[in-house]
Amino acid sequence: MRRSVGRVLVTSNPKQGGYANVQAAMMSTLVPPLPQLIGVKGHLNLAHMFLRQVLRPGDTVIDATAGKGHDSSFLARIILTPDSGSLVSMDVQEQALAKTRETLVLSMAPLYSVKQIESMMRDRVRLVLQNHRSFPTDIPDESVAAIVYNLGYLPGSDKSITTCPADTIASIEAATRLVKTHGLISILAYRGHEGGVEETAAVEKFATSLKPFDWSVYSHYPLNRPTSPVVFTLFKNA
Ligand SMILES: C[S@@+](CC[C@H](N)C(=O)[O-])C[C@H]1O[C@@H](n2cnc3c(N)ncnc32)[C@H](O)[C@@H]1O
Repeated sequence: MRRSVGRVLVTSNPKQGGYANVQAAMMSTLVPPLPQLIGVKGHLNLAHMFLRQVLRPGDTVIDATAGKGHDSSFLARIILTPDSGSLVSMDVQEQALAKTRETLVLSMAPLYSVKQIESMMRDRVRLVLQNHRSFPTDIPDESVAAIVYNLGYLPGSDKSITTCPADTIASIEAATRLVKTHGLISILAYRGHEGGVEETAAVEKFATSLKPFDWSVYSHYPLNRPTSPVVFTLFKNA
């Protein structure tokens, strides 16, 4: 069946699979095969691997840097069901949110009917044009299973519109209040672009300051590639 959701043309087969099959297939691959952890996208797969461990269908999640919507789509495919789950995707650029909407719709097309996608996009996906320094005020503290950052600039667009240490740290600080016990703040920080080393250092400094009783904090990066991205995982213990 070919139909449009908003301005995105999708092909979907509502008879195919069914929701239970989709979830079973997704949850059966909790750990990606090793080759996915070593190529150019190794850092992304590593971040997603940790997120898969904490997320469940029906959870609420925030993508604090929506960009082209790849992380949002990854999250949506785990937590959204036709009648539960909630995704908030934020960015400071309208074009990023438009692209995120398109990526989300296309990524859900093989899994759900057009009607289901329309209702999920309307009722449980929020695309928020806002600096992530603060989050929408109606999100209660301790209610979010994961808050995800993929720092830097939108690939293929204006590189001057990039995350910056002051906003990033203010945001992560706010995120520590929104995330629930056993939830995760995942931050992918790049060291190859201008300002990236400083921003990564600021994230590391903030993460290191979190109380060990309340938080289990890790950084992950390949020791033999000094400029490769760093994945920070901040697990809330209590
Ligand atoms: C590396 S991209 C994100 C990639 C994205 N997660 C994806 O899957 O395609 C970083 C994004 O952060 C956005 N950004 C920069 N500063 C921001 C801020 N203060 N608040 C929210 N978004 C911001 C940029 O506009 C850009 O789209």
